[in-house]
Amino acid sequence: MSGDRELDVVVFGATGFVGRLVAGYLAGHAPGEVRIGLAGRSERRLADIRAGLGGATSAWPMLLADSADPVSVAALARAARVVVSTVGPYRAQGLGLVEACAAAGTHYADLTGEVLFIRDSIDRCNDVAAGSGARIVHCCGFDSVPSDLGVLMLHQAACTDNAGDLQDTTLVVTALRGGISGGTLASLMGQQDEMRASAERRRVVEDPYGLSPDRAAEPDLGDERDLAWVRYDGDLRMWTGPFVMAGLNTRVVRRSNALQGWAYGRRFRYREVTGFGAGPAAPLLAGAASTALKAAEAGLAFGPSRAMLGPLLPAPGQGPSEKTRRTGFFRMQIHTCTSAGARYLGTIEARGDPGYAATAVMLGETALCLALDRDQLPDGAGVLTPATAMGAALAARLRSAGHILATRQITQ
Ligand SMILES: NC(=O)c1ccc[n+]([C@@H]2O[C@H](COP(=O)([O-])OP(=O)(O)OC[C@H]3O[C@@H](n4cnc5c(N)ncnc54)[C@H](OP(=O)(O)O)[C@@H]3O)[C@@H](O)[C@H]2O)c1
Repeated sequence: MSGDRELDVVVFGATGFVGRLVAGYLAGHAPGEVRIGLAGRSERRLADIRAGLGGATSAWPMLLADSADPVSVAALARAARVVVSTVGPYRAQGLGLVEACAAAGTHYADLTGEVLFIRDSIDRCNDVAAGSGARIVHCCGFDSVPSDLGVLMLHQAACTDNAGDLQDTTLVVTALRGGISGGTLASLMGQQDEMRASAERRRVVEDPYGLSPDRAAEPDLGDERDLAWVRYDGDLRMWTGPFVMAGLNTRVVRRSNALQGWAYGRRFRYREVTGFGAGPAAPLLAGAASTALKAAEAGLAFGPSRAMLGPLLPAPGQGPSEKTRRTGFFRMQIHTCTSAGARYLGTIEARGDPGYAATAVMLGETALCLALDRDQLPDGAGVLTPATAMGAALAARLRSAGHILATRQITQ
């Protein structure tokens, strides 16, 4: 890893909706000695963003790069020790930068929620990054940091107690309030289009181990499909429904397990659901929320319904209002049972719109963690996950930033 770079951290996509928030977070929270730059394809828009950040950021360099121009992307990758990218949809815009960072030995982090992009990144960049020492870390926002760090913490608690391997493990979203941006919708629709055009690509997305480093070595634990509809869960003693990000987060967590030599366990069964409680209204609530989710997915899947919904939805560059970002929140629990019969409960919570305010904290702290915490990071390079690239170091940073990440053993 080169220490002679012009900058420590560059935010690529600083003119976009979430890029602006990440730049704003770094402006307010990065230690003064961290050398930060803003990158994008328009000097004028970058200058406007930088002027809006105010204070010492007026000295932050601006770097011009267009993802369609490999020479500019390669120069960007060589300019900094860490590049964080919010230029999406990533499948269309992102692979060139990952390749450039892998080749240059530059750490890279992003906010992608696109399984197909991550699969391509693994297949094309893992070995090069492993050789150069670069940590390529996808999914460093609400998807999939809480899931990935939450399960890692449970594993570490079980190890400390000598309580055996993790087995049945379920993340339950118990409360969530927030909005969505145009860039996220564009990324979602891009993956839907690719799945419709290719049965092979659809199989990758639907495979519970679609992001595995070694698919043939994964255990056969029976049906591990994500929950598709409302169900009363006897173990959790509550009504549950699908969670919109389960199809990504579960793959990331299973990849973390495999990258650590299946340290969580070979019988680690992981799922994510939304919890609706056990009261009399719970099945109705679960049914209504699950119907709304299916309707939104179907509405975004096809051209005619997209065209009808278009005027109602945010365009690229737009996203939740300041009030929505400020008043949003999420709360999650992770329940696990170990091979020795011990039970643990993980709690992960944060204030602020999960996908935007809380995500800006997660990606901002990821950038600082990769740039500053070198001695505390787990060994490894290549296409990693938040848990395997940063693990406890990122969890400590997020706690300092006000996020709750806790575990406790429960007795029954
Ligand atoms: N996982 C999570 O929790 C989470 C949360 C939020 C967002 N996201 C993801 O983050 C991504 C960005 O979302 P967003 O809402 O911020 O999108 P956005 O507002 O549309 O921003 C996209 C950014 O990409 C830049 N860009 C587009 N094409 C480019 C090119 N050819 N070269 C260089 N830059 C280019 C845009 O620059 P211009 O200003 O020049 O157009 C803009 O800065 C999406 O993929 C979204 O799904 C994930």
